[in-house]
Formats: sequence, C-alpha cells, structure tokens
Amino acid sequence: MIHKPTAGNQWWRSGVIYQIYPRSFLDASGDGIGDLPGIIKGLPALVDLGVDAVWLSPFYQSPQKDGGYDVSDYCSVDALFGTLADFDHLVAEAHNLGLKVMIDLVPNHTSDQHPWFQRAISSPPGSKERDFYHFRYEEDLPNNWVSLFGGPAWTKLTDGSWYLHLFDSSQPDLNWNNPEVRKEFEKILRFWLDRGVDGFRVDQPHAMAKAEGLPDHPYVEEAGAGFIEGRESPPMWFQEEVHDIFRRWRKILDSYSPERAMCGEAYVLPLSFMAKWVRPDEFHQTFNFRFLDADWSLERIRSAINESFAAFDAVSAPSTWVLNNHDVIRHASRFGGGYGRPTASDGISSKDPQPDSQLGLQKARAATLFMLALPGVSYLYQGEELGLPEHSTLEDSRRQDPTFFRTGGKRVGRDGCRVPLPWDNSNGSNGFSDGDPWLPQPEIFKELARANQTAPNSTLQLYKKALKLRKELSLGNGGFDWLEIPGALGFQNRNVKVVHNFSDAPISIDGTVLINSSGNATDLLEPNDTVWLSD
Ligand code: BGC
Repeated sequence: MIHKPTAGNQWWRSGVIYQIYPRSFLDASGDGIGDLPGIIKGLPALVDLGVDAVWLSPFYQSPQKDGGYDVSDYCSVDALFGTLADFDHLVAEAHNLGLKVMIDLVPNHTSDQHPWFQRAISSPPGSKERDFYHFRYEEDLPNNWVSLFGGPAWTKLTDGSWYLHLFDSSQPDLNWNNPEVRKEFEKILRFWLDRGVDGFRVDQPHAMAKAEGLPDHPYVEEAGAGFIEGRESPPMWFQEEVHDIFRRWRKILDSYSPERAMCGEAYVLPLSFMAKWVRPDEFHQTFNFRFLDADWSLERIRSAINESFAAFDAVSAPSTWVLNNHDVIRHASRFGGGYGRPTASDGISSKDPQPDSQLGLQKARAATLFMLALPGVSYLYQGEELGLPEHSTLEDSRRQDPTFFRTGGKRVGRDGCRVPLPWDNSNGSNGFSDGDPWLPQPEIFKELARANQTAPNSTLQLYKKALKLRKELSLGNGGFDWLEIPGALGFQNRNVKVVHNFSDAPISIDGTVLINSSGNATDLLEPNDTVWLSD
C-alpha cells in the first residue's frame, strides 16, 4: 500500500479547506469590494457546500498594491473590509457553523507604508530601524537578484540607499536575522490566536531568511527569481535559518487549545526537501505545488502523488492537494488550453488563444473529483465549485496586479482568477454587490451564479455530492493504492475505486457508480471523466 490510512482525523489532516479571497467573495457594504460582513453572509453557503474550514486571504490594513499581500498593520482590519469587531463576529459565526478559520500571515515583507519601513527610511544607515529591512548603500545594484513580479529586486531611495523586495517595490523584505522582527511576529501570532483563529496560511515561508552577505544568484540567467531543482539553493530561498523561526511558532500554536494549525506556502521542490517545512515541530502542512504544477497530465499526476506520499508520510505530515488559488489561471480554463506551468504563467489576455471552455470545465470537474478522493487535505479556491472560468478577456485598463505594471503588460498578471463571485441574477454584479464590482465579471457568470446551480449535474451539486461522500466514506484519512488500468489513472481508497480516463476512448468499468464527474451512471467511463466506484 502506497499510503496507509491514518488514525488522525484532525481537520488539518483530512479536511477540505476553502480559500476566500475577501475582496471578491461577497460585498455587504455596496462599494464593489467584498468585505467581512459579506463573508459572514456567505458562510452558510460554505456549510451547505460541505467544507471544514476557510482560509481568508489578507484583509489587514494595506495600500492594496498586491491585493493585500502588502500589509501596513498586521493587527488590524482594513476599512475596505470592515472592522476588528466584524472579524470577531466572523470567527464566532464560523465556529457556530462548525467551520475552522485560518488567516493569511505575510511575514516575508511588509508594505512600504508600514510604520516600520517609514521609520527605517527616515532613520540613518546602521540604525536599529533600518535593521528591520535589507538596505545597501553602494552606487550600483547591490546584486543580480530579480523580483518575481519582473524587474530588479532592489529600489533606490532618494537618499541613494537601496532596499530589497523579492516582490513589488511596495513590499520591502524584512530582515529575519533581526531578533526584533522575530519578536514582533510572535506578538502578531498571539494577537490573532487570542481572537480565536484556528490557524494560519503563511506566505513565502521559504523566502524569509537570506544568505549572509546577499551574494549573487548563481544562475539568475536560467532561473530568474526562481530556482532549478537539484541545483544549489539560490541565496534568497530555502535558507536553513528559517526552520528556527517555525519551530518557535509551532511551540506557540501548540500552547493553545483547541488545537491550532499552520500551513506553509513553501514553494520548495523536490517534495523530499519541502518535507523539512512540515516536520512534526514545524508546519502542520504545506501547499503541494508539485500536484498543482502537474497540470493534469497522467504521468506528472502519478509521479506527484507517489512523491507526495513518500515525502510527507516520512515526516508524518498530511499530503495536501490543490488545483486552484488566487495566483493561477482557474483550472476550468487552464485545462482547456496550453498555458504553461500554472505557477509560472499568469493570466490569459484577449490577445492569447482562448480556452476551450467546455473541455476545460469537463476536465476540471474530473480533476477535482479525483483530487477529493485522495487521502489528506484538499484545498478549494472560491468559485471553483461553480465551475467559474478565468476572465480571459479582461480590459488592461481594469487590471491591478503589480506584475502587469512592472512588466509593462508583457505579463498580464493574476486579476483574471480574482473576479468577484456570482451569487444570483439579482443585480448587475450577479448578486456580488449593490455597487460596481472592482473587476468586471464575464457574461458567463450570469449563468454560473450560485443560485442557478440547482440541477443535479451542475458543478455546484457535483462538488456538494463529492464532499458529502468524501466525509461519509472517511476518504480524507483513508489509504491509497494504485490500480493498473491502461490509459487511465486509478486508485483504491478504503472500499472506493477512483478512475480517471486519460485516454481518448471509453473504458468499461465494474462496480457501483457512486459519482461520475459528467453525471453518467453507465458502466462506461468516457474520456476526460472521473468516477468513484464502490466494490
Ligand atoms: C501570494 C501572492 C503574493 C505573493 C507576495 C504569494 O504567496 O499568494 O498572491 O503576490 O506571495 O506576497
């Protein structure tokens, strides 16, 4: 057996976690931007869907230069989204409804409007204020590092000093060698844990420490801001010093009851290396970017699953599975065209070949059904349960992703997967807001609105049925063994057989059909479909 059933049935070991991108979930204030009261209104729909927890992307005070991942006050709620009282109400309501609440923590960098950075740039070189960040004072670029959003990773201030930012220039990197920085973040953890949050999704935990002296990236021409598996770790990624930070954080979380958990968005490969972040005294889980980047190809999915169980079982951590988030093209569009590695490609513009939306949705439904039968934790991104496609013809004038601006439009950025959700057809934004939505919705959102998806074979009902079966059959903490079926990927979890047909001909299947991604109940599995069968 590739993976044995686990006794642990904690939510962070076997549950389904739903990512909410607050500015696009539901707007209660009518300003066209989603907010916390809107999330409270929408929680019953998530209970109805059948998820176990929600992860909220940042809602803290922020100039919103990077969708809130540029935080200017970590212990606050930006007025855009509401108040701290709204947040407390949200946590209480979620807990009443049986939902756990995870929030996003962005420790690698702050906003350039954070008081720490404002104090740093108004303090002299060498001051303790400056030591919160990475400043350099040479004439030319301090090193060859580049930003993940394009352009150099350094910006020069009017006083001639440079500061480091692996992302946008509005997101200066913190200096995690500084014990004061570490102390501040332990206070921030406790601030939210005391308010009852059940856990954190931690942004870029593999970036926080940098190699001594900030030496050049040894192969920046080949890897840009990234890395190449098997090659040496670039000086801005994967530094050993980060693990002390997380061991300390884990101790803090473990001192709270009920149990709290943290998930690292650690883009580290191979997974045997990523497993260092989820050792029993560090993160509880991490995002599985190998599975996401496998982009639904038979061989890559097969090897991603084998690699996941081998890596994460070795440290007694749950495997996690994810096909969508707020940074990648939605899978209902991605699977309808060749857009490259999900985490490296961002967005589809009207100048690109448009996705085959029918094939894309068929494969997306099948891929999700396959994923939800895997033991471990599955992450869903808001709107995928409605079969929402990427907005692939968004007007450039509406874009807000810093990537678009830093690359002069060469990379269109991630706005296309962040479009406000359609709830019903009650107003111009399909029930999202009484005002104009901050991003326009594509026409198809009218038809895909949540209220319209009552038919048994709608995507919403498919997700609901799969989540209900998953829970009833205890698949989240089940086992895994491959089934050898030519042209297909098949596995057994408990007494359920799961098969996806990657071939271009129907496959005859035997067993009782529990659920089929296309709604068929016949004993033929069509190409690009997934079926769960009981023995
Ligand atoms: C987040 C992105 C963000 C980046 C910088 C990523 O992990 O998911 O949305 O732009 O970190 O914070």
